[in-house]
Amino acid sequence: MTVPFLDLKAAYLELQKPIDDAVSRVLSSGWYVLGPEVEAFEQEFADYCGTAHCVGVANGLDALTLALRALEVGPGDEVIVPSNTYIATWLAVSAVGATPVPVEPDPTTHNIDPARIEAAITPRTRALLPVHLYGQPADLDPILAIAQQHGLKVVEDAAQAHGARYKGQRIGGHGDIVCWSFYPGKNLGAMGDAGAITTNDVALAERVAMLRNYGSREKYVNEMQGVNSRLDPLQAAVLRIKLQMLDDWTERRRAIAALYSEQLAHSKLVLPYVPEWADPAWHLYVVRSPQRDELQARLKDEGIDTLIHYPIPPHRQRVYVDQEITQPPLPVAEQLASEVLSLPMGPQLTIDQVQSVIDVCNRSEIY
Ligand SMILES: Cc1ncc(COP(=O)(O)O)c(C=O)c1O
Repeated sequence: MTVPFLDLKAAYLELQKPIDDAVSRVLSSGWYVLGPEVEAFEQEFADYCGTAHCVGVANGLDALTLALRALEVGPGDEVIVPSNTYIATWLAVSAVGATPVPVEPDPTTHNIDPARIEAAITPRTRALLPVHLYGQPADLDPILAIAQQHGLKVVEDAAQAHGARYKGQRIGGHGDIVCWSFYPGKNLGAMGDAGAITTNDVALAERVAMLRNYGSREKYVNEMQGVNSRLDPLQAAVLRIKLQMLDDWTERRRAIAALYSEQLAHSKLVLPYVPEWADPAWHLYVVRSPQRDELQARLKDEGIDTLIHYPIPPHRQRVYVDQEITQPPLPVAEQLASEVLSLPMGPQLTIDQVQSVIDVCNRSEIY
């Protein structure tokens, strides 16, 4: 049996008729930039997240960059980021001219360790940028408390966390501004690039809405140095259909995660740890093993695709190696990068496929 890491085509086929109808509705509307479809998605996603505002943008990296710009984070400022994240989190900070200051994760959750944040705060620190990595919510209460105590903003990178809950409340409105990616492989994925921010702060929502559209809220009147980073109405129409399925698809992910956790409990793999306050969206199911590469090769031989999120931590990427401030010793991030393996995960994965992954993992002594 072959097991793809994630079957995007199967997700489309499950919703083919409503997606085709939605795309065709946009095509025949004659309205191809912003407009009613984007506004409807923004309203529906804000409602889903339980936040007052959503502003659609072109992708997740732009969501982060425009969020930082809306908060007027810029050159000379520092932003605290996790050492263990996708590089986009860091790139957004660099894009506004600020400096990403890495803080190590809690090795059990892989998310930024709140207990290590205060030591990284300097007079230049302007914001904390936690990431809900793999769809596991970061521990937000202590992060928000530190931010309040030090007068810092909180920007959340929720690119992997659609539908995740922290202490019962959906991710989307805890921090000052929350950034989303709808890259096709995300839990809520478009048919191309797409992104958004959510916030309860109307002024921030208005600033991002201007920044994404040439710094303009009125045609040919430009108030800020904006960019062109608008959510495409075709993508908005697809996202509206998929949003209706999101909870159902998250349930399926949860069932797969439960099966992995139950049946791999006696293997030598380190399995995901879920704190009692977390309700993850299970974007990824990430295990750890010192024999990661052998395990990945073994699974590949059996027709099972896996991925590594992420093989090179941001501070080891060429773009950052020469920047001293990004280079404190980061042993936890480095160890995770050498040991993590993401098993196949997605709502269209069958129980038989999951079982075959489990069987290969359990069959070998060394893992
Ligand atoms: C944690 C994280 N942040 C940011 C991004 C950037 O999103 P995008 O690919 O839509 O620019 C991604 C996904 O690619 C991500 O996984």
